[in-house]
Amino acid sequence: MATHAGGLTATEDRATVHIDNLVRTLGGRDILNRLQLRIAPGEFVALLGRSGSGKSTLLRALARLDHDVTGSGVLTAPDDVSVVFQDARLLPWKRLLDNVVLGLDGPDAAERGSTALAEVGLAGRERAWPVELSGGEQQRVSLARSLVREPQLLLADEPFGALDALTRLRMHALLRQLCDRHRPAVLLVTHDVDEAIALADRVAVLEEGRIAVDLPVDLPAPRRPGTPRYATLRERLLERLGVDRTAEEGDEVAEGVNAA
Ligand SMILES: Nc1ncnc2c1ncn2[C@@H]1O[C@H](COP(=O)(O)OP(=O)(O)OP(=O)(O)O)[C@@H](O)[C@H]1O
Ligand SMILES: [Mg+2]
Repeated sequence: MATHAGGLTATEDRATVHIDNLVRTLGGRDILNRLQLRIAPGEFVALLGRSGSGKSTLLRALARLDHDVTGSGVLTAPDDVSVVFQDARLLPWKRLLDNVVLGLDGPDAAERGSTALAEVGLAGRERAWPVELSGGEQQRVSLARSLVREPQLLLADEPFGALDALTRLRMHALLRQLCDRHRPAVLLVTHDVDEAIALADRVAVLEEGRIAVDLPVDLPAPRRPGTPRYATLRERLLERLGVDRTAEEGDEVAEGVNAA
């Protein structure tokens, strides 16, 4: 664990992510301003927020990629964290299997890598080069690379933002399936309210450096837009994000909503 906080209750101590009063200052502004957040083991939290609200700043803090920023507060997160970004960030000079097992030790690394590739629907493609793959396929390799490490915490920063709507829906199903199997705690940053509702156990909205709203997604699977409870939750989130509902009328629900 990164930082140990004193005086936690037993339940809080079991949280995979435990953030108290987190401040992160960039360019003289408190981007995160006494932020509070808990994520339980295996819990899937989606994080919404306007562009520039600090979502990536929070993810960078959790992944400990923010050495150069100033800040304070308690941040407890596991050491075994995997991060998935909007672009797959595969090394073009390495074959798929080598990309997946990069930095992985042990005699069974190759076997685990092959299994992970099969899990994301790319069985037998171990020796392919990244350039031979579509954007969606590359993002699936990126998921395989993240999950082959069996992280306690998976951080995803708009992982499907660059994909077309249909591929995105397929990726939702895949991610949900992988998370059900591997059970990492997940913090998924997205601009897409429907993506958040489709995938998460809780949806949080970041606003003025804090979690302004944190709602459980208490909907039975499959979560279909169009049911009254779905619509109510969606409405509340959109309202909080300041999306003008009249402007949004007529949009395809499955297309999602870009709140930025
Ligand atoms: N190195 C930096 N120096 C100064 N300001 C920064 C720096 N990095 C980010 N910021 C500012 O911090 C704020 C939060 O940025 P961040 O990338 O976390 O937002 P975000 O919520 O992820 O936005 P988006 O949805 O557009 O990805 C922005 O206003 C950004 O301009
Ligand atoms: Mg961002």
